Amino acid sequence: MQTPSNNTPPEGNEEPSSTFSGPFERGENRLQDLSKLVALCKRRGFVFPSSEIYGGFASVWDYGPLGTLLKNNLKAAWFRSMVQLRDDIVALDSAILMHPAIWKASGHVDHFNDPLVECANCRQRFRADEVTGTRCPNCGGPLGEPRQFNTMVKTFVGPVEEDASVAYLRPETAQGIFVNLKNVLDTMRRKLPFGIAQIGKAFRNEITTGNFIFRVREFEQMELEYFVRPDSSEVMYEAWLTERLAWYARLGMRPASLRLHRKERADLAHYALAGADIEFQFPFGWGELEGVANRGDFDLVQHEQASGQSLTYFDEETREHVRPHVVEPSAGVDRAMLAFLSDAYDEEPDKNDTRVVLRLHPVLAPYKVAVLPVVRKEELTEAARRIHEALRPRVTSFYDASGTIGRRYRRQDEIGTPWCVTVDRETLDNGTVTIRERDTMSQIRLPHRELGAWISEQLVSE
Ligand code: GAP
Repeated sequence: MQTPSNNTPPEGNEEPSSTFSGPFERGENRLQDLSKLVALCKRRGFVFPSSEIYGGFASVWDYGPLGTLLKNNLKAAWFRSMVQLRDDIVALDSAILMHPAIWKASGHVDHFNDPLVECANCRQRFRADEVTGTRCPNCGGPLGEPRQFNTMVKTFVGPVEEDASVAYLRPETAQGIFVNLKNVLDTMRRKLPFGIAQIGKAFRNEITTGNFIFRVREFEQMELEYFVRPDSSEVMYEAWLTERLAWYARLGMRPASLRLHRKERADLAHYALAGADIEFQFPFGWGELEGVANRGDFDLVQHEQASGQSLTYFDEETREHVRPHVVEPSAGVDRAMLAFLSDAYDEEPDKNDTRVVLRLHPVLAPYKVAVLPVVRKEELTEAARRIHEALRPRVTSFYDASGTIGRRYRRQDEIGTPWCVTVDRETLDNGTVTIRERDTMSQIRLPHRELGAWISEQLVSE
């Protein structure tokens, strides 16, 4: 396991004029009102309602230009910590459509159900475990008897819409990993323990959705299946719980926003021997951000029986076939987006108005830097453009020359840009620029030629 580190930018050069004094400042403020974040996400191009010009499509969202950058940064950070910085985990990208027999074997056809009740009057449906009493929360009408509702999304493959061609859009990416275990073992010469990491779309026909991108019908998961010796699964499970909590903290999430909820036996998924949720304090209350489970050998046994193929690992030293046990940290990309955005959202009283600032970790921020000529004079805009062009191959940079400099700083604060580079007369005279830091608003001066290296250095993360 990696050791957690704090998430402050590296100290860099000791020279007081070229470094910021302390860590990125994170206050105690907590976003209470989700609608403020939803509005910011719409206004600044992070998240749009799906199919909006047709009136929207329930519980599906689109990521806008800035949301896409943030989401890609988040997924890249996960892959970096899982695959790039370790020797024991490899990557996979399996298909969304898989053989329907997989979902029978995995237990999803028979067990991936939610109890559903329907109102006899308005026909609205609810999860039976989320309503109290027998009258509809929507219209007060009578609720019917609960029945089991399978939440897998069905589709048809091939030219004929008949039962034989029914397929499912995967409800988790995990099964794509289990059914590729043999391929990975045959090609990658792994020793236990080792893992397979995958990021991809998953679909669930949730009965109750809502809270923005918290519970949606189309979402992305970042899943690791970590294959271990059966006698070490409990230790590995605990180690992954610790590591996953530390990962969120390394990316700037405040530790007080997270807690661990260990599940009782009765609350475990059908495949799990043990499980815990990493919960985040969302504006609407504590909610699951990531599930960590000890899946034992449930999945591998099921797929061995259904496919007739052996899914064991051959240990060269003991000359034994071992069926590994599996520890699974399974995170939702969309929920992590919501958590990082809510945790980063801050409002500060400022002279006559309020400064809205997204205190995102620089690694996550959509733009790392904005280049701003202090006034719109040709010699300054030309110099600023050249600096922007020079930065672009290394980091996402945004050029903005319109409006007062104060206004432009605010626009960058609101989308989480950690550094604003200001180009002024001194830049023309001696080649230095001002770098203004988002959280403290403190400023330093640097030769513009050192900017690229300086920013890249701040962005190195675990
Ligand atoms: N392979 C295990 C698995 O899928 P899960 O707890 O059902 O476990 C893992 O899902 C994570 O996927 C959740 O912690 C959550 O972050 C995300 N997730 C699940 N259903 C979701 C939904 N309807 N909308 C958004 N994210 C969801």
